Amino acid sequence: MSESTDRVVIFDTTLRDGEQAPGASMTLPQKLKVAAALQALNVDVIEAGFPAASPGDFESVRAVARQVRGVSICGLARAQREDISRAWDALREAEKPRIHVFLATSPIHREFKLRMTREQVVQNAVAAVKYAREQCPDVEFSPEDAARTEPEFLAEVVARVVEAGATTVNIPDTVGYAMPAQFAALIAMVRKTVGSRAVVSVHCHDDLGLATANSLAAVQEGARQIECTVNGIGERAGNCSLEEVVMAIRTRADFLRVHTRVNTEQICSASRAVSLATGFLVPRNKAVVGQNAFAHESGIHQHGMLKNVLTYEIMKPQDVGVRSTDLVLGKHSGRAALGERLEKLGYRLDASELDKVFAAFKDLADRKKEIYDGDLDALVETTTFGTNGGRWKLVSIHAVSGTNAAPSAAVCLEMKDGRRVEDAAVGDGPVDAVFKSIERITGVRAQLRDFRIVSMTPGEDAQGEVLIEVEHDGRRYGGRGVSTDIIVGSARAFLEVVNRISAGRPRAVRPVHDEEVACGAV
Ligand code: KIV
Ligand code: ZN
Repeated sequence: MSESTDRVVIFDTTLRDGEQAPGASMTLPQKLKVAAALQALNVDVIEAGFPAASPGDFESVRAVARQVRGVSICGLARAQREDISRAWDALREAEKPRIHVFLATSPIHREFKLRMTREQVVQNAVAAVKYAREQCPDVEFSPEDAARTEPEFLAEVVARVVEAGATTVNIPDTVGYAMPAQFAALIAMVRKTVGSRAVVSVHCHDDLGLATANSLAAVQEGARQIECTVNGIGERAGNCSLEEVVMAIRTRADFLRVHTRVNTEQICSASRAVSLATGFLVPRNKAVVGQNAFAHESGIHQHGMLKNVLTYEIMKPQDVGVRSTDLVLGKHSGRAALGERLEKLGYRLDASELDKVFAAFKDLADRKKEIYDGDLDALVETTTFGTNGGRWKLVSIHAVSGTNAAPSAAVCLEMKDGRRVEDAAVGDGPVDAVFKSIERITGVRAQLRDFRIVSMTPGEDAQGEVLIEVEHDGRRYGGRGVSTDIIVGSARAFLEVVNRISAGRPRAVRPVHDEEVACGAV
């Protein structure tokens, strides 16, 4: 769609609301990788965190503000001077800083959470926006739970914060309660109140699966900013998904008559980066970025596709950067060819990271004939996203199983000072035996809660990605390991967890199901 249509600002909150998803917490290096992926996507605003929430959040907002250029960097703050000052401290080095102030306005929040009257809410909101404007020229205000706020009171709050200097007014459907037509009417009312004095934004949660529909309905009534997250991660059922709204706007520009500045070819890379950093798998059938999003199984569909792809395809896979399954590199490829390919896949590695990936690539190429893009993803993940430098490193594994043999394993691990420790154990299955051996060596005991294997590439020698969740001391930890051998991949995943536990750095994960998964089954 041409530039003559209005542009919708894409405000990404993966690092703030997305990180609030149970189990999605990311380390600082992981957040910086996600921020780099968002910059490559060319979103307009990155909400990098909530600086007053914790020292770690403050540091990560400041690091993103220092690193990312060409994008507005936003920090969230409650309508309190201390929060706003803290947000400004974290943001002041950003090229384009934005402070995002929020205060709940719905009757249920006013009565039970805030214990404030309507007048007090208005006064606090106005004072907070004025104070934020003294620090920063770009101030967004969100009346939290706006969708359940009395419309006439919402109009009053919106009018007053705009008078006080808010440059964007964001209307959240905090609990995902709104229906598209109802939300559209609310946005039409807000637009009328605000006129051209501020940008009207929307922030929809997906509790009823309507976040994307509600956001697009709002755009039709003049909202010109959408708040969203990559892969739709966020509190509870998540937020409006970036890839869905952006591709809906692009694919149905004829109907919506707006555009975004997002570089859609970077969508799959960003989706992968977020999945790696959070440990959240993207469901196969997820719109736009799921593995099946462009797969055609039925004969009728395949027949139509062969005649004309438009019969069953409304977007081109290349438009969202879907990886080809072509052979990309081989045993004789050099460091430069690898670097070039990784750049095409959206990875921005420094020289030392590329050295590590190249060494791992050569090692893999000795074991695996054909190296696909998915293999490269795995190499980058294990060398740059994982817990490298952890206390324990895998040296070797020997596992035995069979119909007439008790499953057993012998494992050798190396400590940071170079000392090696070996031990062996029997188990219900070979994976269980490996985990028990690792537990005996490291002294870390953990209950396996979930175990999954996903094939990363086609072919019989494909690499398997093993994802596990364990419980230790009442907390959940996630780990992943990749290998052409699932026993080795399982050991790597378990060792990642053990290293996280040893480092006291949890990545607590949401249970997929509550029953314990018997290792014997795997
Ligand atoms: O869902 C919500 O209301 C929020 C606000 C802080 C914008 O995340
Ligand atoms: Zn939210």
